[in-house]
Amino acid sequence: MNSSQRKLTIENFLSASAFDRIANLAHSEAGIVLSKSKESMVKSRLTRRLRALKIGDFDTYLNFLENDTNADEISHFISALTTNVSHFFREEHHFSALRNDILPLLYTKLKMGQPVRIWSAGCSNGQEPYSIAMTLLEFDSNIGNYDIKILATDIDPEVLTYAIQGSYSGALTSGLPKNCEKYFTCTKIMNDEVLQIKPNVKNLVSFRQLNLHAKWPMAGCFDVIFCRNVVIYFDDETQSQLYRRFANSLNDAGYLLLGHSERLGEEVSDLFKNIGVTIYQSNKKRGEVPSQNRMERQ
Ligand SMILES: C[S@@+](CC[C@H](N)C(=O)[O-])C[C@H]1O[C@@H](n2cnc3c(N)ncnc32)[C@H](O)[C@@H]1O
Repeated sequence: MNSSQRKLTIENFLSASAFDRIANLAHSEAGIVLSKSKESMVKSRLTRRLRALKIGDFDTYLNFLENDTNADEISHFISALTTNVSHFFREEHHFSALRNDILPLLYTKLKMGQPVRIWSAGCSNGQEPYSIAMTLLEFDSNIGNYDIKILATDIDPEVLTYAIQGSYSGALTSGLPKNCEKYFTCTKIMNDEVLQIKPNVKNLVSFRQLNLHAKWPMAGCFDVIFCRNVVIYFDDETQSQLYRRFANSLNDAGYLLLGHSERLGEEVSDLFKNIGVTIYQSNKKRGEVPSQNRMERQ
């Protein structure tokens, strides 16, 4: 057995203390809760990181992670522990609410020369922000002439590279309605159809890497925040802190859209009213939301 084969065998052993270190790091870096029942998932997903880095055991990997001053590997670590599953127009009722109820109000702002900002927080491979962009273009094909922008963020640099490329094939194109095929150019690569997003859609979206559990660099506020199927991994306290920060980052009467299994808890019920299935509207005026997140003070 050569040394690389020996390494790949050693890395399969995850001790109880290494698992605890992983769980502590996942919690402190991203508020992710890893119970013992997740052990085999953690082991198999992180083994891929060990392989990529050619590291032979979890303790060495953890030492590397804990000294990862520029946080490059932390992003990979967290995204290995979460999933990137997404598709176009996922949870379609959010896009019909955007089209029918929210956009007409935002359009008034645009026509008055005011900016409109939409945030796709936890955007994965880009299907969510591009679905938002297509909804905007379906509403007004010239909407890009107004001051409207979609910020799309994710912790995972790999999904962001994919999203920026905007090239989708196979299962990644699922959910795309017929009327939106016009927003892609289709090429055949081998037997695979590849859909490339067109510039008029792409130009509405800016992608950035951002850990929702860390400091946010954005100065302005948003009219709509999509944060769907992201907080499911976070503990209740981290979720509440995040919702409080979202409330603070929304314009008056701004909207927060959550994933199908996510709900705002009692602790933040004073900040939002529920106006539809997993659709919330801020009921605070700017400046009234108490800042309770230690991250905001960093
Ligand atoms: C299941 S995908 C959801 C994608 C999309 N929002 C949707 O609903 O289809 C979850 C995404 O959240 C990202 N994520 C997980 N923890 C994060 C964090 N702390 N900060 C930013 N993004 C995070 C993951 O990298 C992943 O791409």
